[in-house]
Amino acid sequence: MKAIVVTDQAAGTAGMKLAERPEPQAAINDVVVQVQASGFVGTELSWPSTWTDRLERDRAPSIPGHELAGVVTALGYGTTGLSVGQRVFGLTDWYRDGTLAEYAAVEARNLAPLPGDVDFTVGASLPISGLTAWQGLVVHGRLQAGQRVIAHGAAGAVGSMVTQLAREFGAYVIGTGRAADRQRAIDFGANAFVDLDNEALEDVGEVDLVFDLIGGDIGKRSARLVRAGGTLVSIVGPSEARPADGLAIDFVVESDRAQLGEIVQRVRDGRLRTNIGVVAPLDDAVAAFNPTKRTPGKTIIRVRP
Ligand SMILES: NC(=O)c1ccc[n+]([C@@H]2O[C@H](COP(=O)([O-])OP(=O)(O)OC[C@H]3O[C@@H](n4cnc5c(N)ncnc54)[C@H](OP(=O)(O)O)[C@@H]3O)[C@@H](O)[C@H]2O)c1
Repeated sequence: MKAIVVTDQAAGTAGMKLAERPEPQAAINDVVVQVQASGFVGTELSWPSTWTDRLERDRAPSIPGHELAGVVTALGYGTTGLSVGQRVFGLTDWYRDGTLAEYAAVEARNLAPLPGDVDFTVGASLPISGLTAWQGLVVHGRLQAGQRVIAHGAAGAVGSMVTQLAREFGAYVIGTGRAADRQRAIDFGANAFVDLDNEALEDVGEVDLVFDLIGGDIGKRSARLVRAGGTLVSIVGPSEARPADGLAIDFVVESDRAQLGEIVQRVRDGRLRTNIGVVAPLDDAVAAFNPTKRTPGKTIIRVRP
């Protein structure tokens, strides 16, 4: 099968190559999915799981990409809950070959049914950004209606989901990002916006919840804005500073069939808009992940047209 592979960690996305790889087999509880569309997070190539297995043995050449939408073509021993021919979407194991390929083997529990009226490109854009936003706000952040939330990077893949879900759950959302992101963040529902390059984050005052996907100095300054009893949720590793009288939580997103169902239902009924940018075929994936200019939205690879 055709797949994007990486062999050189130092090369980053420039080291991605289109190659022939053997088709994966379905292990116990797996399904094999014929991938229709795939997502990818740029930072994956710095994650240890892209380069080693769970015993820290080198596993390159590895296939990146951990979000997919496609059709089940085979079931492993003992697999229940999904069937051959079913449309699915979900988040695949960080330590296994991923979804920038014509086929991927995935544990069935990491997938959810993709309704027939949801396009594969849309399905592939949802798992990481949607689940991360859901888990950060609902599971870790315990968001309540009426709370004030800072959604960093509100025009980005995760931040646009955070902004929309937080608004739906009744929060007042202060989006942040670059000057050029203001209108997009407001279109996703942010009540206010801070251009981090030119405006003072501190001017927003106290908040109940910060959803941090930037870290560093922005993360530290955000911690000081969390009111007593509030929470700083980080998806870019443990925070360098903690709120004086609140919680600091960092987490890595996990797949969850029920949450995928909640997210896709919101896309179907119009409560949630996807944030898709460039859509490119697998043959052009390397170029799509090495853009020459800043492109808004999440890049999706349409593995089959
Ligand atoms: N722990 C987890 O489970 C998890 C899950 C998903 C993502 N992540 C991580 O979360 C981060 C964001 O992911 P994403 O997919 O949402 O990325 P993305 O689509 O690139 O969105 C990030 C947004 O934040 C903006 N931004 C970043 N740094 C900024 C700064 N210093 N000032 C102003 N704006 C800034 C970006 O603008 P520019 O493009 O101009 O920088 C972009 O609009 C990545 O590091 C990713 O690895 C972690």
